Amino acid sequence: MAATSIEKFITGIPKAELHLHIEGTFEPELMFEIAKRNNKKIKYNSVEEVREAYKFNNLQEFLDIYYAGAGVLLEERDFYDLTYAYLKKVHSQNLKHTEVFFDPQTHTDRGILFGTVITGIHKALEDGRTHLGISYKLIMSFLRHLSEEEAFNTLEQAMPYKDWITAVGLDSSEVGHPPSKFQRVYKKAAELGFHTVAHAGEEGPSEYIWEALRLLNVVRIDHGNRCLEDEQLVSELANRQIPLTLCPLSNLELKVISNLSDYPLRKMMGKGLLLTINSDDPAYFGGYVNENFLRLAEVLDLSKKDVCDLAKNSFRASFLDEKTKIRLIESVEEYYRNN
Ligand code: ADE
Ligand code: ZN
Repeated sequence: MAATSIEKFITGIPKAELHLHIEGTFEPELMFEIAKRNNKKIKYNSVEEVREAYKFNNLQEFLDIYYAGAGVLLEERDFYDLTYAYLKKVHSQNLKHTEVFFDPQTHTDRGILFGTVITGIHKALEDGRTHLGISYKLIMSFLRHLSEEEAFNTLEQAMPYKDWITAVGLDSSEVGHPPSKFQRVYKKAAELGFHTVAHAGEEGPSEYIWEALRLLNVVRIDHGNRCLEDEQLVSELANRQIPLTLCPLSNLELKVISNLSDYPLRKMMGKGLLLTINSDDPAYFGGYVNENFLRLAEVLDLSKKDVCDLAKNSFRASFLDEKTKIRLIESVEEYYRNN
């Protein structure tokens, strides 16, 4: 039997995604369709023009376009369609489990009800579980360029839907908005029983990762690239096995790194960090989870064993219960043995 190519191996391996913004899955085709039925104007004339505009020099340039795109989402059905389109796409990539961020404030600040947003997303996630066999957790992100008071307000609005939300997160413009700004709201969220994660060390300094750990008590760091600037921090993350949810194509498109071949994955692996591979905002960065694996595998010459370890990490670092984690990790090992 001929050996499976790395591309086929990546396509078929069971995996989870732990860093995915649902608003970042908004493909231009669906954006035009939803804009049309909602009578909303898009400032581009065609899908091609939209894709042409997706050239970013930093996080903020991307966020400006990302928030504008989300502006055509009005009805529960829109949030449903957005979410289900993502699930169908990753079903074809053998994704077994996804932990999805949503940014309620991007919508409630435009007058959309919190309930409209979360109900559409939740229904699609439930349908994805039933019909596509993809399990999920939902993570509510606070926008860090807004105030902590507004985050508290969002937490309040989430209370009727508490059972649908597993964790809180922190995203948007990082520099100038340190985790310390959100210490009180994270404390409250933890008291209410939410797990906590935060974006840190994407553009912001390694001190923000320390703050996320010490002040927000996060159990996962989203991105975390800049931990490499602080040896003591690397040891802390490795000793405690705090997962980093890495997003290679996002880092490339937002100029966090200049070349994918410079991606410090091997360096991070060598330090014993618990690493996962994710897509962040796949409609904007040119690839879903498999493309992130594949492009990295090509430039870093990843072996099947490397890919297998990363896929196992994706389950290990998830919010799934221990029994389910073990079952899914075993399914990865079985796949590795047979391919
Ligand atoms: N929101 C969506 N994608 C993001 C990213 N990569 N960093 C911060 N906020 C985001
Ligand atoms: Zn992100």
